[in-house]
Amino acid sequence: MHIPLDFFLSIRPALFNLCIVFIFFFKKPLRPELFDFHGVQMIHYFTDNWEAVQNFQARPDDILIATYPKAGTTWVSCILDLLYFGQTSPERQTSIPIYERVPFLEIFIPSRVLGVDQAEKLLTTPRLIKTHFPVQFVPKSFWEQNCRMVYVARNAKDSMVSYFHFDRMNTVQPEAGDWKDYFQRFIKGKMVFGSWYDHVSGWWKKKQTHSNIHYMFFEDLVEDTGREIDKLCSFLGLSPSAEVKKQITGEVQFDNMKKNSMANYSTVPVMDFKISPFMRKGKVGDWKNHFTVAQNEEFDEDYRKKMKDSTLQFRSAI
Ligand SMILES: *[C@@H]1O[C@H](CO)[C@@H](O)[C@H](O)[C@H]1NC(C)=O
Repeated sequence: MHIPLDFFLSIRPALFNLCIVFIFFFKKPLRPELFDFHGVQMIHYFTDNWEAVQNFQARPDDILIATYPKAGTTWVSCILDLLYFGQTSPERQTSIPIYERVPFLEIFIPSRVLGVDQAEKLLTTPRLIKTHFPVQFVPKSFWEQNCRMVYVARNAKDSMVSYFHFDRMNTVQPEAGDWKDYFQRFIKGKMVFGSWYDHVSGWWKKKQTHSNIHYMFFEDLVEDTGREIDKLCSFLGLSPSAEVKKQITGEVQFDNMKKNSMANYSTVPVMDFKISPFMRKGKVGDWKNHFTVAQNEEFDEDYRKKMKDSTLQFRSAI
Protein backbone atom coordinates (compact mmCIF):
# COMPACT_ATOMS: atom_id res chain seq x y z
CA MET A 1 0.00 0.00 0.00
CA HIS A 2 1.26 3.44 -0.86
CA ILE A 3 0.60 6.27 1.57
CA PRO A 4 1.11 9.66 -0.04
CA LEU A 5 3.61 12.06 1.52
CA ASP A 6 0.90 14.68 1.66
CA PHE A 7 -0.92 12.60 4.21
CA PHE A 8 2.03 12.67 6.62
CA LEU A 9 2.49 16.37 6.12
CA SER A 10 -1.13 17.01 6.88
CA ILE A 11 -1.13 15.08 10.12
CA ARG A 12 2.22 16.47 11.26
CA PRO A 13 0.75 19.13 13.58
CA ALA A 14 -1.47 16.53 15.19
CA LEU A 15 1.48 14.20 15.76
CA PHE A 16 3.43 17.06 17.24
CA ASN A 17 0.62 17.82 19.68
CA LEU A 18 0.34 14.18 20.59
CA CYS A 19 4.03 14.13 21.47
CA ILE A 20 3.66 17.18 23.68
CA VAL A 21 0.73 15.61 25.49
CA PHE A 22 2.71 12.39 25.87
CA ILE A 23 5.76 14.17 27.28
CA PHE A 24 3.57 16.17 29.62
CA PHE A 25 1.93 13.11 31.11
CA PHE A 26 4.89 10.80 31.26
CA LYS A 27 7.80 13.08 32.04
CA LYS A 28 9.57 12.40 35.27
CA PRO A 29 9.81 15.46 37.46
CA LEU A 30 13.38 16.72 37.67
CA ARG A 31 14.90 15.89 41.01
CA PRO A 32 17.22 18.36 42.74
CA GLU A 33 20.94 17.58 43.10
CA LEU A 34 22.90 17.57 46.35
CA PHE A 35 25.77 20.01 46.74
CA ASP A 36 28.10 21.08 49.49
CA PHE A 37 26.88 24.15 51.32
CA HIS A 38 29.13 25.46 54.14
CA GLY A 39 30.22 21.87 54.69
CA VAL A 40 26.73 20.35 54.70
CA GLN A 41 25.04 18.50 51.84
CA MET A 42 21.98 20.48 50.79
CA ILE A 43 19.59 21.02 47.88
CA HIS A 44 18.71 24.41 46.49
CA TYR A 45 15.15 24.43 47.86
CA PHE A 46 16.63 24.95 51.32
CA THR A 47 19.41 27.38 50.43
CA ASP A 48 17.88 29.62 47.74
CA ASN A 49 16.39 31.93 50.35
CA TRP A 50 19.48 31.87 52.59
CA GLU A 51 19.75 35.64 53.17
CA ALA A 52 16.14 36.03 54.21
CA VAL A 53 16.28 32.91 56.36
CA GLN A 54 19.43 34.05 58.14
CA ASN A 55 17.94 37.50 58.69
CA PHE A 56 14.68 36.13 60.06
CA GLN A 57 13.61 38.14 63.09
CA ALA A 58 12.68 35.73 65.84
CA ARG A 59 10.64 36.90 68.81
CA PRO A 60 11.40 35.86 72.38
CA ASP A 61 8.31 33.65 72.59
CA ASP A 62 8.86 31.86 69.26
CA ILE A 63 9.38 28.13 69.59
CA LEU A 64 11.65 26.36 67.15
CA ILE A 65 11.01 22.68 66.45
CA ALA A 66 14.21 21.22 65.05
CA THR A 67 14.96 17.72 63.81
CA TYR A 68 16.97 15.77 61.31
CA PRO A 69 14.38 14.75 58.68
CA LYS A 70 12.06 11.88 59.56
CA ALA A 71 12.52 12.05 63.32
CA GLY A 72 8.98 12.93 64.37
CA THR A 73 8.79 16.59 63.35
CA THR A 74 5.13 16.47 62.41
CA TRP A 75 4.32 14.50 65.51
CA VAL A 76 5.87 17.05 67.86
CA SER A 77 4.48 19.93 65.79
CA CYS A 78 0.97 18.57 66.25
CA ILE A 79 1.54 18.08 69.98
CA LEU A 80 2.76 21.65 70.47
CA ASP A 81 -0.01 23.05 68.32
CA LEU A 82 -2.60 21.19 70.39
CA LEU A 83 -1.00 22.21 73.67
CA TYR A 84 -1.04 25.89 72.75
CA PHE A 85 -4.11 26.26 70.59
CA GLY A 86 -6.16 23.07 70.91
CA GLN A 87 -8.53 24.57 73.47
CA THR A 88 -8.72 28.16 72.25
CA SER A 89 -9.03 27.49 68.51
CA PRO A 90 -9.93 23.86 67.90
CA GLU A 91 -10.91 24.66 64.29
CA ARG A 92 -7.19 25.03 63.44
CA GLN A 93 -6.79 21.27 63.71
CA THR A 94 -9.50 20.53 61.19
CA SER A 95 -8.99 23.32 58.68
CA ILE A 96 -5.29 24.22 58.44
CA PRO A 97 -2.63 21.70 57.37
CA ILE A 98 0.13 21.25 59.92
CA TYR A 99 2.78 22.60 57.53
CA GLU A 100 0.91 25.93 57.54
CA ARG A 101 0.31 26.00 61.28
CA VAL A 102 4.01 25.27 61.79
CA PRO A 103 5.91 26.71 58.80
CA PHE A 104 9.14 25.13 57.59
CA LEU A 105 11.51 28.09 57.86
CA GLU A 106 14.10 27.34 55.18
CA ILE A 107 11.88 25.88 52.48
CA PHE A 108 11.72 27.97 49.31
CA ILE A 109 9.76 26.61 46.38
CA PRO A 110 8.54 29.64 44.43
CA SER A 111 4.81 29.70 43.69
CA ARG A 112 4.34 26.82 46.13
CA VAL A 113 5.81 27.35 49.55
CA LEU A 114 7.92 30.11 51.05
CA GLY A 115 8.79 29.29 54.65
CA VAL A 116 10.01 32.70 55.80
CA ASP A 117 6.93 34.46 54.43
CA GLN A 118 4.65 31.93 56.07
CA ALA A 119 6.43 32.31 59.40
CA GLU A 120 6.25 36.11 59.20
CA LYS A 121 2.54 35.95 58.49
CA LEU A 122 1.78 33.78 61.52
CA LEU A 123 -0.67 35.49 63.81
CA THR A 124 -0.35 33.11 66.73
CA THR A 125 1.56 33.65 69.96
CA PRO A 126 3.75 31.78 70.32
CA ARG A 127 4.74 31.17 66.72
CA LEU A 128 5.71 27.55 66.19
CA ILE A 129 8.41 27.24 63.54
CA LYS A 130 10.00 24.11 62.09
CA THR A 131 13.53 23.64 60.82
CA HIS A 132 15.74 20.76 59.71
CA PHE A 133 18.89 22.84 59.92
CA PRO A 134 21.99 21.53 61.66
CA VAL A 135 22.51 23.69 64.74
CA GLN A 136 25.12 25.96 63.13
CA PHE A 137 22.63 27.09 60.45
CA VAL A 138 19.98 28.35 62.89
CA PRO A 139 19.42 32.09 62.26
CA LYS A 140 21.14 34.16 64.94
CA SER A 141 18.03 35.97 66.15
CA PHE A 142 16.75 32.72 67.69
CA TRP A 143 19.83 32.71 69.94
CA GLU A 144 19.72 36.45 70.57
CA GLN A 145 16.09 36.21 71.64
CA ASN A 146 16.82 33.13 73.71
CA CYS A 147 13.93 31.27 72.05
CA ARG A 148 12.95 27.87 73.29
CA MET A 149 13.81 25.01 70.97
CA VAL A 150 12.54 21.45 70.89
CA TYR A 151 14.91 19.03 69.21
CA VAL A 152 13.71 15.53 68.34
CA ALA A 153 16.24 12.81 67.57
CA ARG A 154 15.60 9.31 66.23
CA ASN A 155 17.95 6.36 66.07
CA ALA A 156 20.08 6.30 62.94
CA LYS A 157 18.84 3.01 61.51
CA ASP A 158 15.17 3.91 61.55
CA SER A 159 16.00 7.43 60.38
CA MET A 160 17.77 5.95 57.38
CA VAL A 161 14.88 3.65 56.46
CA SER A 162 12.30 6.36 56.91
CA TYR A 163 14.34 8.86 54.88
CA PHE A 164 14.76 6.26 52.12
CA HIS A 165 11.01 5.85 51.70
CA PHE A 166 10.52 9.60 51.93
CA ASP A 167 13.06 10.29 49.17
CA ARG A 168 11.36 7.70 46.99
CA MET A 169 7.99 9.42 47.19
CA ASN A 170 8.94 13.10 47.42
CA THR A 171 9.78 14.62 44.05
CA VAL A 172 11.45 17.68 45.57
CA GLN A 173 14.09 15.45 47.19
CA PRO A 174 16.99 13.81 45.32
CA GLU A 175 16.28 10.40 43.79
CA ALA A 176 16.57 7.66 46.44
CA GLY A 177 18.09 5.08 44.10
CA ASP A 178 18.31 1.54 45.41
CA TRP A 179 18.59 0.64 49.07
CA LYS A 180 22.17 -0.61 48.84
CA ASP A 181 23.43 2.73 47.54
CA TYR A 182 21.22 4.69 49.89
CA PHE A 183 22.72 2.84 52.84
CA GLN A 184 26.24 3.94 51.79
CA ARG A 185 25.13 7.49 51.13
CA PHE A 186 23.60 7.77 54.59
CA ILE A 187 26.79 6.56 56.26
CA LYS A 188 28.78 9.10 54.25
CA GLY A 189 26.39 11.89 55.19
CA LYS A 190 25.33 12.48 51.60
CA MET A 191 21.77 13.30 52.54
CA VAL A 192 19.77 16.51 52.40
CA PHE A 193 20.65 18.40 55.63
CA GLY A 194 23.89 16.48 55.78
CA SER A 195 25.14 13.81 58.08
CA TRP A 196 22.75 12.36 60.67
CA TYR A 197 25.74 11.87 62.96
CA ASP A 198 26.77 15.53 62.80
CA HIS A 199 23.19 16.71 63.15
CA VAL A 200 22.22 14.84 66.31
CA SER A 201 25.66 15.40 67.87
CA GLY A 202 25.76 19.10 67.00
CA TRP A 203 22.42 19.78 68.67
CA TRP A 204 23.33 17.57 71.63
CA LYS A 205 26.54 19.49 72.19
CA LYS A 206 24.70 22.81 72.00
CA LYS A 207 22.16 21.59 74.52
CA GLN A 208 24.88 21.09 77.12
CA THR A 209 25.42 24.84 77.33
CA HIS A 210 21.98 26.05 76.37
CA SER A 211 19.14 25.37 78.80
CA ASN A 212 16.46 26.51 76.36
CA ILE A 213 16.88 23.39 74.24
CA HIS A 214 14.66 20.43 75.09
CA TYR A 215 16.28 17.36 73.51
CA MET A 216 13.88 14.48 73.11
CA PHE A 217 13.83 11.08 71.43
CA PHE A 218 11.39 9.57 68.96
CA GLU A 219 11.69 6.20 70.70
CA ASP A 220 10.57 7.71 74.01
CA LEU A 221 7.56 9.25 72.31
CA VAL A 222 6.57 5.89 70.90
CA GLU A 223 7.13 4.18 74.23
CA ASP A 224 5.13 6.63 76.33
CA THR A 225 3.60 9.60 74.58
CA GLY A 226 1.91 10.89 77.74
CA ARG A 227 5.17 10.96 79.70
CA GLU A 228 6.91 12.88 76.90
CA ILE A 229 4.05 15.38 76.73
CA ASP A 230 4.49 15.91 80.48
CA LYS A 231 8.17 16.65 79.97
CA LEU A 232 7.36 19.04 77.14
CA CYS A 233 4.84 20.81 79.36
CA SER A 234 7.35 21.34 82.14
CA PHE A 235 9.91 22.63 79.65
CA LEU A 236 7.37 25.03 78.15
CA GLY A 237 5.83 26.03 81.47
CA LEU A 238 2.40 24.73 80.54
CA SER A 239 0.01 22.98 82.89
CA PRO A 240 -2.93 21.53 80.99
CA SER A 241 -5.50 19.54 82.92
CA ALA A 242 -5.18 15.76 83.05
CA GLU A 243 -8.22 15.54 80.82
CA VAL A 244 -6.74 17.80 78.15
CA LYS A 245 -3.46 15.90 78.25
CA LYS A 246 -5.28 12.64 77.81
CA GLN A 247 -7.22 14.04 74.87
CA ILE A 248 -4.03 15.29 73.19
CA THR A 249 -2.27 11.98 73.78
CA GLY A 250 -5.15 10.23 72.02
CA GLU A 251 -5.28 12.64 69.11
CA VAL A 252 -1.60 12.24 68.30
CA GLN A 253 -1.53 8.45 68.26
CA PHE A 254 -0.06 7.33 64.95
CA ASP A 255 -3.26 5.85 63.55
CA ASN A 256 -5.20 9.02 64.29
CA MET A 257 -2.58 11.28 62.76
CA LYS A 258 -2.35 9.06 59.70
CA LYS A 259 -6.03 9.49 58.94
CA ASN A 260 -6.04 13.20 59.67
CA SER A 261 -5.81 14.99 56.32
CA MET A 262 -4.59 18.12 58.10
CA ALA A 263 -1.60 16.18 59.43
CA ASN A 264 -0.91 13.39 56.92
CA TYR A 265 0.37 15.62 54.10
CA SER A 266 -2.19 14.19 51.67
CA THR A 267 -2.73 17.76 50.47
CA VAL A 268 0.87 18.12 49.22
CA PRO A 269 1.10 17.64 45.42
CA VAL A 270 4.85 16.89 45.23
CA MET A 271 4.49 13.66 47.17
CA ASP A 272 3.46 10.43 45.51
CA PHE A 273 1.50 8.42 48.07
CA LYS A 274 1.23 5.54 45.63
CA ILE A 275 4.96 4.98 46.17
CA SER A 276 4.88 5.39 49.93
CA PRO A 277 2.69 7.36 52.35
CA PHE A 278 4.11 10.33 54.27
CA MET A 279 3.17 8.63 57.51
CA ARG A 280 4.38 5.15 56.91
CA LYS A 281 4.69 3.12 60.10
CA GLY A 282 5.77 5.35 62.97
CA LYS A 283 7.47 2.40 64.66
CA VAL A 284 10.80 1.66 66.28
CA GLY A 285 12.83 -1.13 64.69
CA ASP A 286 11.52 -1.23 61.13
CA TRP A 287 15.19 -1.12 60.07
CA LYS A 288 15.24 -4.86 60.80
CA ASN A 289 13.08 -5.33 57.70
CA HIS A 290 15.59 -3.46 55.54
CA PHE A 291 19.13 -4.03 56.83
CA THR A 292 20.89 -7.19 55.78
CA VAL A 293 23.05 -8.91 58.41
CA ALA A 294 26.17 -7.69 56.61
CA GLN A 295 24.85 -4.14 56.42
CA ASN A 296 24.04 -4.20 60.09
CA GLU A 297 27.58 -5.24 60.99
CA GLU A 298 29.11 -2.65 58.72
CA PHE A 299 26.80 -0.03 60.13
CA ASP A 300 27.51 -0.82 63.78
CA GLU A 301 31.24 -0.79 63.29
CA ASP A 302 31.16 2.55 61.52
CA TYR A 303 28.70 3.94 64.09
CA ARG A 304 31.00 3.14 66.99
CA LYS A 305 33.81 5.06 65.30
CA LYS A 306 31.70 8.06 64.38
CA MET A 307 29.94 8.36 67.75
CA LYS A 308 32.75 7.28 70.07
CA ASP A 309 33.19 10.73 71.62
CA SER A 310 29.50 11.34 72.13
CA THR A 311 27.49 10.71 75.29
CA LEU A 312 24.35 10.39 73.17
CA GLN A 313 22.56 7.10 73.60
CA PHE A 314 19.96 5.87 71.16
CA ARG A 315 17.64 2.90 71.24
CA SER A 316 17.09 0.99 67.99
CA ALA A 317 14.53 -1.23 69.66
CA ILE A 318 12.15 -0.73 72.56
C1 LIG B 1 -5.07 11.19 54.95
O1 LIG B 1 -6.28 11.50 55.56
C2 LIG B 1 -7.43 11.42 54.72
C3 LIG B 1 -8.63 11.85 55.52
O2 LIG B 1 -8.88 10.96 56.59
C4 LIG B 1 -7.57 10.00 54.17
O3 LIG B 1 -8.66 9.94 53.28
C5 LIG B 1 -6.30 9.60 53.46
O4 LIG B 1 -6.38 8.25 53.05
C6 LIG B 1 -5.10 9.78 54.37
N1 LIG B 1 -3.90 9.53 53.61
C7 LIG B 1 -3.04 8.54 53.89
C8 LIG B 1 -1.93 8.40 52.93
O5 LIG B 1 -3.16 7.82 54.85
